Amino acid sequence: MHFDKLCANGYLNMILRDMKEADLDGVLAIERAVHAHPWTPGNFSDALRSKYQCKVYETAQRELVGYAVMLLAVDEAELLDIAIATAQQRKGQGRRLLNEMLALARKNEMRRMVLEVRASNVSAIALYRSMGFSDIGLRRDYYPAHTGREDAILMGRGL
Ligand SMILES: CC(C)(COP(=O)(O)OP(=O)(O)OC[C@H]1O[C@@H](n2cnc3c(N)ncnc32)[C@H](O)[C@@H]1OP(=O)(O)O)[C@@H](O)C(=O)NCCC(=O)NCCS
Repeated sequence: MHFDKLCANGYLNMILRDMKEADLDGVLAIERAVHAHPWTPGNFSDALRSKYQCKVYETAQRELVGYAVMLLAVDEAELLDIAIATAQQRKGQGRRLLNEMLALARKNEMRRMVLEVRASNVSAIALYRSMGFSDIGLRRDYYPAHTGREDAILMGRGL
């Protein structure tokens, strides 16, 4: 568990803990609200059964604020999903949660973090760039989109 002693948004403590099956209703509610093409319950259950780092991020009062899923492979961490509940966005929580995932990757002796993001996802791209990620590749037409397909930008940073 990691604690923020004093958060700018008024929460005294934030907790990062392992995601459990019992968290999935809340996680899926956020996932479906923030993503046009959300992960399915099966995707999360598979991630929980696999060796993925599945974390929920909540207040000391157990209010679910966000979550993240990360894969640790040899010396590279891949951030597979990260989200903050709509009502909690733009309060610094996404930056804080990403910092927690970076710290977790470092603790597991990862040397690099990589991720893929939709080219249209300006808020996530701005967050990643402001936290030291740079573009390392492009996968054309990688994601399904409302009309046709959408490119994925690959980003990465050292740890
Ligand atoms: C991306 C996401 C996690 C950011 O969380 P957040 O709590 O809103 O972000 P923060 O308040 O910590 O903001 C951190 C930085 O992100 C960027 N950012 C966040 N929202 C933004 C927006 N709507 N427009 C532009 N930049 C934005 C800014 O650079 C911001 O820094 P600033 O406040 O100093 O300008 C959140 O928007 C989210 O859950 N989106 C839906 C899920 C998603 O797209 N996940 C990423 C998949 S790759």
